[in-house]
Amino acid sequence: MLFDPRPKTRREELYDRDSELTALEEFVDRGSPLMVVFGIRRVGKTSVVKVFLSEANIPYIYIDARVFEEGGFRKELVYRVLSEELNRLRGRWHSILEYLKVVEGVEVSGFSVRFDLRRRLSLVEVFKKLDEWAGDSGRKIIIAVDEAQLLRYLKGGKGRIDFTAVISYCYDNLSHIKFVITGSEVGVLRDFLGFNDPSSWLYGRIRDELIVERFDREKSIDFLEKGFSECGVKSPITVIEEIVNKVDGIPGWLTYFGYRFCKNPDPGVIREAFNEAKAMALSEVKKLPSKYYIYALKAIALGYNRWKSIKQAMEVWVGHSLSNAQVSRTLQMLSKLSFIEKRDDEYIILDPVIAEAVKEL
Ligand SMILES: Nc1ncnc2c1ncn2[C@@H]1O[C@H](COP(=O)(O)OP(=O)(O)OP(=O)(O)O)[C@@H](O)[C@H]1O
Ligand SMILES: [Mg+2]
Repeated sequence: MLFDPRPKTRREELYDRDSELTALEEFVDRGSPLMVVFGIRRVGKTSVVKVFLSEANIPYIYIDARVFEEGGFRKELVYRVLSEELNRLRGRWHSILEYLKVVEGVEVSGFSVRFDLRRRLSLVEVFKKLDEWAGDSGRKIIIAVDEAQLLRYLKGGKGRIDFTAVISYCYDNLSHIKFVITGSEVGVLRDFLGFNDPSSWLYGRIRDELIVERFDREKSIDFLEKGFSECGVKSPITVIEEIVNKVDGIPGWLTYFGYRFCKNPDPGVIREAFNEAKAMALSEVKKLPSKYYIYALKAIALGYNRWKSIKQAMEVWVGHSLSNAQVSRTLQMLSKLSFIEKRDDEYIILDPVIAEAVKEL
């Protein structure tokens, strides 16, 4: 179903991403060791990667780094997630166990893999064995990490894991392992990977990049028409246009409104769904670490798009003057988090639902 609200896992449910899937296939066949999939929130990054993985007939490990946000940025959780993935893998590729069982701290009992956290564990040692297995069986193996910018919180200190060091080791030494990394906070992800930062492990590494873009107007309309016809709902063009005008081609929102209208095909439901969408967007905005971010977004949403007018509006709302550096830092961080973008001399909010939501704050 096109309007299934979860990330898609099958090509039939994924609208118009054939070229993105081809890019991922080509990356496995002849690309660099590392592919980074960028895109703003709700654009369909996870869906593209999941459909690719489910079709590729290649062993893969999939880690959604948000699990660490929930369960804590702890090494124990990294190994727990990894063991779950390895246990899934060995269901189909049983011979993996033979390779893993010689790694210190890995326990293979019966048919399952466990990590003994009291022993000296090393991710690199595990990956080395996966690489050896892949090489011996004439395959590649993919390590996919979703929302990978969150892995930065695993770094530093005893008992922590520096993923960029692990990736760079694999990059240089393990030719059968390929990484697919995605994230919606595009600038933060770039900083974390540090391709342009001489102090980063991954500095200067060649990588493949895929940017998942929003749909244009025509595709947005077609997506909604196909989705409505799939769920047997007649939708007046006015409803389709209303949705398309509200969400500017962001597939996640198109899916959300489509899903809601299919459940209750009443034009009034669009307004109700829009209010709920704005509430969802607001809850994301409210996670930002200071009021400055919210005021900057509100200023831009209300049409104060230039640096100076954003600063003036922010000062009115905070009730005191702000330094230039404070304003610049705020705008820079909002850009890195993919909330805004600077085009020529003006800032714009990338998601129109967020723009509408912050106007009301
Ligand atoms: N090409 C597509 N065809 C059909 N549905 C899609 C497509 N792209 C995205 N969706 C739908 O949009 C929603 C968001 O997709 P997905 O979770 O893959 O995006 P994302 O970029 O990973 O989002 P986030 O930044 O929140 O992680 C899901 O409901 C998904 O089913
Ligand atoms: Mg996602």
